[in-house]
Amino acid sequence: MTASIINGKEIAAKKRMEIAEEVNRIKNLGVTPGLAVILVGDNPASQTYVKNKEKACQELGMNSVLIKMPEEISEESLLSKIAELNNDPSIHGILVQLPLPKHIEEKKVIESISPFKDVDGFHPINIGRMMTGQDAFLPCTPYGIMVLLEETDISIAGKHVVVVGRSNIVGKPVGQLFLNKDATVTYCHSKTKDLKIHTNQADILIAAVGIPNFIKAEHVKDGAVVIDVGINRNEAGKLCGDVDFAEVSEKAGYITPVPKGVGPMTITMLMYNTLKSAAQSLNRN
Ligand code: GUN
Repeated sequence: MTASIINGKEIAAKKRMEIAEEVNRIKNLGVTPGLAVILVGDNPASQTYVKNKEKACQELGMNSVLIKMPEEISEESLLSKIAELNNDPSIHGILVQLPLPKHIEEKKVIESISPFKDVDGFHPINIGRMMTGQDAFLPCTPYGIMVLLEETDISIAGKHVVVVGRSNIVGKPVGQLFLNKDATVTYCHSKTKDLKIHTNQADILIAAVGIPNFIKAEHVKDGAVVIDVGINRNEAGKLCGDVDFAEVSEKAGYITPVPKGVGPMTITMLMYNTLKSAAQSLNRN
């Protein structure tokens, strides 16, 4: 079987058109969605991500504020900046780009963001709400994966979903979102014995391990849906995913490429969450 390619770039573009329309609608009601992005230090990957977030805001007619802080900034100064943004009515979303320098406690920073403005969906209140199936800001990459499947008309209820990777940002929450949609979910990770036995059961396989070309054809059941969350560089410096695309695309039913797969969905869902927060602020006033 040769897999159908799930075109994340195209699906993201469609979703962004819908978001732009909704941004216009709420602008006419007097609110322009505003996103504040805090970047501490000068990690090159983080700088690229942050630039892309600003560009997306501009394209969709949202306001964006970039706050750059030096690597040596104290935890206290960062927390006081966040407190200021929590109280700023023109800001609907606050995102602190991770990772943070070692002297700053990530957990403390995440918990200081108002859950109403936590468009990353990282605050324990939003995680708890997501787990219990209440309305919540959903973390952007997992949410983007769900939208990719929905837009491709891939059903989820009763399917066996195997997640490889258990990060707080992707692996753990994506499994939860599938469980919320009535899938049977297995989590695998670096200590899992005989990974293949598990991954070969997957109707839907999520690769979120951060190791280039880690998932091979032998890990995949014929016709499975394979979602590649990895953004890695191979030995030649070329961008590649966690899935060996050349091999696996010959066996899977559907596959996301890298780039132009999951990646474009992450920022799209961040824009969606910021819009949602702005719309909710209208209802609170
Ligand atoms: N660093 C890598 N991915 C993310 C993300 O989704 N949000 C934030 N805030 N930082 C990140």
